[in-house]
Amino acid sequence: MMNGKTLFISGGTRGIGKAIVYAFAQKGCDVAFTYASSADTAKEIIADIESKFKVKCRAYRLDIMEPLTYKDVFKEFDEDFSTLDFFISNAIISGRSVVGGFAPFMRLKPKGLTNIYTATVAAFVVGAQEATKRIEATGNGGSIISMSSTGNLVYTPNYSGHGTNKAAVETMVKYAAAELGEKNIRVNAVSGGPIDTDALKAFPNYEEVKGEVVKRSPLSRMGEPTDLTGACLFLCGDESSWMTGQTIVVDGGTSFQ
Ligand SMILES: NC(=O)c1ccc[n+]([C@@H]2O[C@H](COP(=O)([O-])OP(=O)(O)OC[C@H]3O[C@@H](n4cnc5c(N)ncnc54)[C@H](OP(=O)(O)O)[C@@H]3O)[C@@H](O)[C@H]2O)c1
Repeated sequence: MMNGKTLFISGGTRGIGKAIVYAFAQKGCDVAFTYASSADTAKEIIADIESKFKVKCRAYRLDIMEPLTYKDVFKEFDEDFSTLDFFISNAIISGRSVVGGFAPFMRLKPKGLTNIYTATVAAFVVGAQEATKRIEATGNGGSIISMSSTGNLVYTPNYSGHGTNKAAVETMVKYAAAELGEKNIRVNAVSGGPIDTDALKAFPNYEEVKGEVVKRSPLSRMGEPTDLTGACLFLCGDESSWMTGQTIVVDGGTSFQ
């Protein structure tokens, strides 16, 4: 159980982030999460979590395209919570801001690629820095995770912008792990194969991707958001106490062809 512990996760309103919010709350962990536009959904999740699991839950607005605003969001967090144990960088951009980044190679544009870098790598860095200050203050150590995806291991049409930045954030995780270990903070990544979420449904070739994933997976199915929660719980628990700087791949076997 995780009673008395606190998780901060970005992007808790949908898909994988929402599943992680529920999985940690179910273990008795207090949860702070962020949203970008889904303020009403965030309120509903808070009410549902607090009534079902009797833990404290709060949400804050964050735009990962402006990573430095993490500093203000964490100040809001400080008014509600006195300690922090776990941080998960999960939020991802989609839609207009990824135009030129989510495209075939010959249509990639610097602006779209830079936006994905900002949302994936720069946001992880600032979020993890702010989290580290709070985790360090408890004197008990803690765990930081970046969500990643196997789009850096398996060719996925249009995904080069995300795939290269997931490779980059996995390397940033190793650098953070190397330097934060002395504070007893472990830093790892959880890399998922294709998971059935809004982000994936936004792929123009969603049906084709889904069919290919089901065909490729020895388990003959697409991933669900809850398929990634076990690895996150593991990396925040004592069971993984000597693991740092690693990426756990949870992909239904899809990246071995
Ligand atoms: N889906 C997959 O196949 C897959 C596979 C492996 C790994 N992943 C990774 O898992 C993570 C979550 O993916 P997902 O598929 O669950 O995504 P999703 O369903 O699209 O949810 C995205 C989340 O990020 C928030 N968000 C969107 N734009 C934002 C912005 N500008 N600033 C701050 N927050 C913003 C959203 O909040 P609002 O609801 O308020 O917009 C939402 O909570 C990502 O890092 C992704 O790369 C995904």
